[in-house]
Amino acid sequence: MSDEERERHRSSDWFEGEGVNGFIHRSWMKNQGHPDRMFNGRPVIGICQTFSDLTPCNGHFREIAEFVKRGVYEAGGLPVEFPVMSLGETIVRPTTMLYRNLVSMDVEESIRANPLDGVVLLCGCDKTTPALLMGAASVDLPTIVVSGGPMLTGRMRGRPLGSGTDVFRLSEEVRAGSMSVAEFRRSESCMSRSAGHCNTMGTASTMASIVESLGLGLPGNAALPAVDSRRRVLAHDSGRRVVELVREGVRMSDIVTRQAIENAVIVNAALAGSTNAIVHLLALAGRLDIPLELAELDHIAAGIPAIVDVQPSGRFLMEDFFEAGGIPAVMQVLRDALHGDALTVVGTVRERAALAERWDDEVVRDLDRPVVPAPTLAVLHGNLAPDGAVIKASAASPELLVHTGPAVVFESMDDLERRYVTGDGITVDSVLVLRGAGPRGYPGMPELGNLPLPPHLLRQGVRDMVRISDARMSGTAFGTVVLHVAPEAAVGGPLGLVREGDLIALDVPARRLELLVDAEELERRRATATSAEIEDGGGYAALYRAHVTQADTGADFDFLRGRRGSEVHGDNH
Ligand code: FES
Ligand code: MG
Repeated sequence: MSDEERERHRSSDWFEGEGVNGFIHRSWMKNQGHPDRMFNGRPVIGICQTFSDLTPCNGHFREIAEFVKRGVYEAGGLPVEFPVMSLGETIVRPTTMLYRNLVSMDVEESIRANPLDGVVLLCGCDKTTPALLMGAASVDLPTIVVSGGPMLTGRMRGRPLGSGTDVFRLSEEVRAGSMSVAEFRRSESCMSRSAGHCNTMGTASTMASIVESLGLGLPGNAALPAVDSRRRVLAHDSGRRVVELVREGVRMSDIVTRQAIENAVIVNAALAGSTNAIVHLLALAGRLDIPLELAELDHIAAGIPAIVDVQPSGRFLMEDFFEAGGIPAVMQVLRDALHGDALTVVGTVRERAALAERWDDEVVRDLDRPVVPAPTLAVLHGNLAPDGAVIKASAASPELLVHTGPAVVFESMDDLERRYVTGDGITVDSVLVLRGAGPRGYPGMPELGNLPLPPHLLRQGVRDMVRISDARMSGTAFGTVVLHVAPEAAVGGPLGLVREGDLIALDVPARRLELLVDAEELERRRATATSAEIEDGGGYAALYRAHVTQADTGADFDFLRGRRGSEVHGDNH
């Protein structure tokens, strides 16, 4: 390649120089068999790889990466794949959320420290998406996301099985005595029958949908099944497109603007998406210095009902959603509510919505024939949650959305199991409270919020009760479950002051969550409260506890907020 043909990019700082460093940067690339012209003077594209045998949902990503590479080569770039820590939702203990911020640091530092001009993020299982988005946002190179796509629909005895959602449903059937353990075991292999992430509108599908509605993925990215050949084409096209984004100088922050975030919030409401998305969007906004308050999320999506009939709030699964038109169809239905001028990795939102096609108006509904009326996700405030709490109203029982009942308080899941042996004093009107499960308290804010119901009430046919905690819940879960109470009990939040039998009033239409105990009594309790000592075993968990922020600001680390850019100072030799 002649000097005139050589393009100048960020990677040129590594590969163009004379002297020892230029020699070292080039020479060791050559040991992989790259001719000089392939990396020196072309866009170098990092493929951020979250494949792991321990993240089953991302198990096909080595293959997907090969298709991304084809596209990068086609456009005249050099693809380089690099691994980051991967988080398998089904396996990692105590909770993947403990490590989301750690992965984001891995991603951020890996991108910045290397000769990359653009990145393709391979995101699938729940936390891999927000972690990669957050890390990439803090560096802000041209960025495109290829999601892993959902698993194929599982079936048992001719009936579809939804990932997660049916696990919770069937396990309650077992606990109620209406399903045998053997049958429950048999359903395991029916539920997960291909590569890909959960096939319900759980956190993974929600986050993939958010990627597409933010404009960071190509149209169809969210819902195309993991094993569909067209996802490989999408991966190829994404590789090709990111090279063009580098040449056009389009950075992640040109795409993920306040308008884009509002679009994502609106789409999320229409999907009745995972409550986890709220925490992740707040964290992402923080990385890009986009002001965003928890309460605003409710206002931005005001009046948007659930129009996508997918579990857990609806009936169908992601494969059906894909066949119905997927996120492009949803954006078309929502076009008047969305910011049409918002830029995406290909065209504006308005242009994409105009090109979309909807094949099934039962799965993707019109706004005037919703699956569940607005609000789908509601933000609550009150003396029990001064900084806010969240409820997925679309997955709750309508008759419990306004409910006052006496608290039954659990300090831990072991405590709950002990109480459930007799179930004494727990009635269908009780409000089940779990505390000490927030970001700092657990630590990591696990998905425990959809507390199991007491067996004696299950046997009576009860299938939902009001539950309140500072924890999160799986995006695939359902029930009248108030989550993310902030501040959490472990940092002195009023959730820690609730006593057995106190009346708690939930009023979703009024967005209120109140502990019906007068302020003086609460002050008395606060004065005598002893906060439980959290064991300090050092290591990463100590860093986490020292720096994690509360759920209402995204549970990011305080020192990670903001964009630090792609500049790197100092040479390595
Ligand atoms: Fe990985 Fe649900 S467990 S997406
Ligand atoms: Mg999940």
